[in-house]
Parts: sequence; C-alpha cells; structure tokens
Amino acid sequence: MARWRRILGGAAAALTVAAMGTLMQSSPAAAAPDGPDMVVGGTTATQGEFPFMVRLSMGCGGALYSPTLVLTAAHCVNGTGTNTSITATVGVVDLNSTSKVTRRSNYVYRAPGYNGNGKDWALIRLSSPVTGLATLPIARTTAYDSGTFTIAGWGAATEGGGQQRYLRKATVPFVSDATCNSSSMYAGQIIASNEICAGYAAGGVDTCQGDSGGPMFRRDAANAWIQVGIVSWGDGCARPNKPGVYTQVSYFAATIASAASSLGG
Ligand code: ARG
Repeated sequence: MARWRRILGGAAAALTVAAMGTLMQSSPAAAAPDGPDMVVGGTTATQGEFPFMVRLSMGCGGALYSPTLVLTAAHCVNGTGTNTSITATVGVVDLNSTSKVTRRSNYVYRAPGYNGNGKDWALIRLSSPVTGLATLPIARTTAYDSGTFTIAGWGAATEGGGQQRYLRKATVPFVSDATCNSSSMYAGQIIASNEICAGYAAGGVDTCQGDSGGPMFRRDAANAWIQVGIVSWGDGCARPNKPGVYTQVSYFAATIASAASSLGG
C-alpha cells in the first residue's frame, strides 16, 4: 500500500481511484458535508473559496493554470498526446451540483521523462476555455517553498476511505527535505530537488487517495494564492512521521510555462 504509486507508476492507481469515485458519485446523496476528521483532518471548503480547483474524471484533482489548461500530476494520466477521455468539473464544491461546469480534454502533456519517480506533473488541455473562474499562478522561484500551505481535494477523508462529494480543505506546515528524508520519515526516498513535503510529525492532516494532481498553495507577498505543490504521494495518509509529498512546482515552473505556451496557453 505504502509505496503503491511508485510501484504502479500511476495509471492503474488512478483507475482504481476513478472506480471508487464513480461508485461514490453514483450512489444517492448521503453524507452531510462536514465531519471532524474529514482531504484528511480538514473541513468543507465554501463555494467560490478556491475557484481554480478542478476535479478530473479519472479520480484526481487539478488546478486551473489558464482558462484552457489544468495542471495535475503525471501519475494521473497515461502519457502525452491527443486525449478526449477526461472530463474536468469546475466551478463547484459539490460535484453533484446542477451548476457545475464540465469540459472534455482534447490533449494531455505529461512531464517529459516521467517514469514514476519524481517529475510528477502534467497539463490537460480543455476543449474550450472556462470563463469566470480565477486561475492559480505557479510559483516561479523557491521564495514560497516554506511556511503554511493549503491543500484541497475531493479525495478520501480517511486512509482507505471513499471519495468525497464536497471539496475539502486543510492547512499543513512545510517539512524540510532534510527532515522529510531523515530515518524517522522517508529515509532518503524524497527527491530533494523536485519534491516538497508538508504535514505534521504527529500526522492527522494530509491529502489522500483521489487528491492527487490537486494543488498545494499559499499566499504570496501580494496576498494572492500561488501554487507551490502538486499532490503526489505519501505512505498511507496522515500517518505520524509520514508527511504528504508534493511535486515542487517552482523547480518545474519554466518547463511547465513553456509546455503551456506550446499548448496554446
Ligand atoms: N497518489 C495519491 C493519489 O493518487 C495521493 C496520495 C497522497 N498521499 C498523501 N499521504 N499525502 O490520489
């Protein structure tokens, strides 16, 4: 279970999560939106709070990089090329809302050289732009790669739990590469140059299965949201001494930006 993403390399894992999501969303609306420990250890986001959040039909999250591009995780997609199979849902915290907006993908760009170990980012191009939703700028320097981060997603609210109908959010503190790679945590498994850890040593708050591809973000110097991470992997969810591991967006920012422009923005 623990290291499943790196072992499976992503596609199979994403399909498993997608199947969970399909089951959850097709069952009748149950479940009150809020609970004490539901992302894990979070609370329900309010409508419009994170307008850039995207739910992807394979069971992942994403963020609006531009009106036509969704930034997600490489392990959520199968490769680079024409792809009309993904549906992106935007504009709602409630995935069953009648006011949800959906778009079909028309192209996927997966990080060049992605092999299941690091480089966990991808861009999904939508068939037409979404309107009226703020996008989430990416951090282009390491200036924001510390502090307190917000995480959000429709993934499991407990390890092994089901996908969520309502967007959930939480905050987690930065964990240095040295700490995250220490023997009590990931013992050298973190790729320090391009992964960033966040969470509490005591556990309890984390992203989880189905949050993959979604953004980790914080406020910049102008108090605007800026994306510093992409949900990538972890050992279980919210376990003590097992912080969430995120793609370090600043490291890839220039490559992401040039890929985005090659995709037409
Ligand atoms: N790889 C997972 C997914 O596909 C995300 C895992 C995040 N885990 C964590 N403990 N932060 O949804």
